[in-house]
Amino acid sequence: MKIFIDTANLKEIKEAADMGVLDGVTTNPSLVAKEGFKDFKTLLEKICEIVDGDISAEVISTDSLGIVKEAKELVKIHKNIVIKVPLIKEGLKAVKILSSEGIKTNMTLCFTPSQAVLAAKAGAYLVSPFVGRLDDVSTSGMDLIAQIVNIYNNYGYETQVLVASVRHPLHFVESALIGADVCTMPFKVIEQLVKHPLTDIGLSKFLEDWKKLNS
Ligand code: G3P
Repeated sequence: MKIFIDTANLKEIKEAADMGVLDGVTTNPSLVAKEGFKDFKTLLEKICEIVDGDISAEVISTDSLGIVKEAKELVKIHKNIVIKVPLIKEGLKAVKILSSEGIKTNMTLCFTPSQAVLAAKAGAYLVSPFVGRLDDVSTSGMDLIAQIVNIYNNYGYETQVLVASVRHPLHFVESALIGADVCTMPFKVIEQLVKHPLTDIGLSKFLEDWKKLNS
């Protein structure tokens, strides 16, 4: 399973990349706004310099022609840019056009298996089901991932399932068990994946014992 970071924070992207585990980056308008970085193009250029993998950049148009126009500008920035498009009717129309022209897309804000099937049929490269936001409204986000993976396997759809809105390490582990293609998460969750108290206790003990030997 590929690991993406879900942030527009360059420091976090650099740190995760330095850990040697990063395969790509997802951003969205809220994450970009949080960083207060007004020049989206420069931000994307900087991200592409740090990570050699899929970099999702979201459009803000909601009509198909507007989405296509924005997408064509964004893909000029770097070969790794993937256009993030909302999973609405106009978004599907745009993805159909973009995929026929070889432009990679990530259909976002997916909350049902039926939306995911439509994204695959339109030719999306990635689909982003939001697990945390479903959990927030008492619906299992991970059940949705299992359903989408199952349906995609049934019909051999090539669209990759990118688990988004990840809130904790169990979302990551369950995604891997189900067989999702990608899991994108905030830096905090990537840090949580590596942490274990027994690792820290064990390491302190090893270092203490070594010190005693040499004192
Ligand atoms: O980038 C989309 C998604 O991962 C957002 O997550 O935490 O705002 O639901 P969240």
